[in-house]
Amino acid sequence: MNLKKEFINYFVSLGHKEIPSSPLIPENDPSVLFNTAGMQPLIPYLLGKDHPEGKRLCDAQKCVRLTDLDSIGDKTHHTFFEMLGNWSLGDYFKKESITYSFNFLTKVLNIPLDKLAVTVFKGNANIPRDEVSASIWESLGIAKERIAYLGEDDNFWIAGETGPCGGDTEIFYFRSNDATPKVFDPKDERWVEIWNNVFMEFNKKEDGTIEELTRKNVDTGMGLERVVAVLENVDDNYQTSIWHNIINKIVEISGKPYQGNEESMRIIADHIRTSVFISADYAGIKPSNTDQGYILRRLIRRAIRHAKKLGIDLNSDWIEQVALEVIKKYENEYLEIKENKDIVLNVLKEESIKFNRTLEKGLKEFSKLVQKDQKVIDKDIAFKLYDTYGFPIELTIELASELNMQVDVEGFNAKFKEHQELSRTASAGKFKGGLASSGEVETKYHTATHLLNAALKQVIGPDVHQKGSNITSERMRFDFSCDHKLSDEEKKQAEDLVNNWIKEDLDVTMSTMPKEEALKSGAEAMFVEKYADIVNVYTIGNVSKEICGGPHVKHTSELGHFKIIKEEASSAGVRRIKAILE
Ligand code: ALA
Repeated sequence: MNLKKEFINYFVSLGHKEIPSSPLIPENDPSVLFNTAGMQPLIPYLLGKDHPEGKRLCDAQKCVRLTDLDSIGDKTHHTFFEMLGNWSLGDYFKKESITYSFNFLTKVLNIPLDKLAVTVFKGNANIPRDEVSASIWESLGIAKERIAYLGEDDNFWIAGETGPCGGDTEIFYFRSNDATPKVFDPKDERWVEIWNNVFMEFNKKEDGTIEELTRKNVDTGMGLERVVAVLENVDDNYQTSIWHNIINKIVEISGKPYQGNEESMRIIADHIRTSVFISADYAGIKPSNTDQGYILRRLIRRAIRHAKKLGIDLNSDWIEQVALEVIKKYENEYLEIKENKDIVLNVLKEESIKFNRTLEKGLKEFSKLVQKDQKVIDKDIAFKLYDTYGFPIELTIELASELNMQVDVEGFNAKFKEHQELSRTASAGKFKGGLASSGEVETKYHTATHLLNAALKQVIGPDVHQKGSNITSERMRFDFSCDHKLSDEEKKQAEDLVNNWIKEDLDVTMSTMPKEEALKSGAEAMFVEKYADIVNVYTIGNVSKEICGGPHVKHTSELGHFKIIKEEASSAGVRRIKAILE
């Protein structure tokens, strides 16, 4: 049985439209590094916007969750996974949602009722105990003692800190050959959560307050891997057909059996699969020391460390061989895997060459400490392991905890920050030097981006915010929040404003100040949390003020003539303008 197909067919037959998986790396949402749930790309619609495909949707969404990183190595967790989901945008609610899930599990997948149990929300100060869901479950045949009422930590769902949210009901399967206990104990790990139905009725705002949504939605998520394990009757996700060839390859390369080496093999399999998906994404992520690049680096390096533990020859092409199994498994389903196959293999190969050069020495350095019988790895050593040997701090922490040692993480962070500021200053200097010859045009486009941002705020409204930008020496591209296609009139007005400001020859000035002060002064910021504590603020006449790394021209007259050449949709609630300077 192909679970994904069955799931989609089932919900399509119930009037849902299938939508494609969004990219793993969100295109216009700088607040998260990866999509972590099927609902993430749907947030504007859950908040009230009409979806072009209607009120009933379903899909399989690629997700990466890093909160589970420490659990990788067990039987049920993965950093990358596919989430099967169905949504009601202000259409059906609890009764239909629960009934649909129940019928899919018991009638389509033929899972015995006796193997199922559910949790429902026991309520809080704002939301009553969810007797409605409980009685629907009972009416479908779930026994009272298989229904547990749990609090906010378990049965209230929100992606991160803000956004659409609500109480939920979760479905569990008893994954064991032991006799299924009559009474459901959610703490008993043999009960594995397989599906979560969230009743999204609220929106949590940045100031922490909760407001009711204009319409009630349903957001569900089912872990593909876990349900495949149920269907294939194994109690270890990594023993399903999904992982079969990948694990076998690791067994073959290491010459060691799976039994007894499960933890390292699962970590390698999981981390390489996730690394393949991250590096195949069209965002073009490469291993680095920031954001998605840092996660990619961490995953690859951790996989390599476990390969070493298994005695795999790190100088062989083992990492490409494992990656090839992942590629084979997914290339017919995900175009980016097929198209970017060579890029992926190169990323893995190069990162592993880089890390191999220092891993051995780093581990020696580490073991010297152990011999000295230290209990704490101080900040200097942790930083040396990072800076000289390329150990992500998490790797040092992991090595230390295997030996019951602590790491001075705070001290490391302080040192790291100090170092970052030094190198930032250094690279800013380098950039300045190179500009005159190669970056003049790009610099102009950079300034034009600020002017266009300011113009759109005047023409469309203060809610316009930059969502992304990309500059080449040929053109600029600017993504911004806006819920409608721009009319010719609006485009013309924006263009005219920018050209007037160019003609006025406004001064572009830069000042450096603490981030808080910059934000207080009303400076526009695209990624608030990504800036250092001290930021540069660029001001253009009294037209624009933005936190920005620069560089910019000194006077707007240097820009020439500004022209919008294209305006189009970029993604939900985001428009894209391409413009040139001539
Ligand atoms: N968004 C819900 C989850 O991720 C369904 O569990």
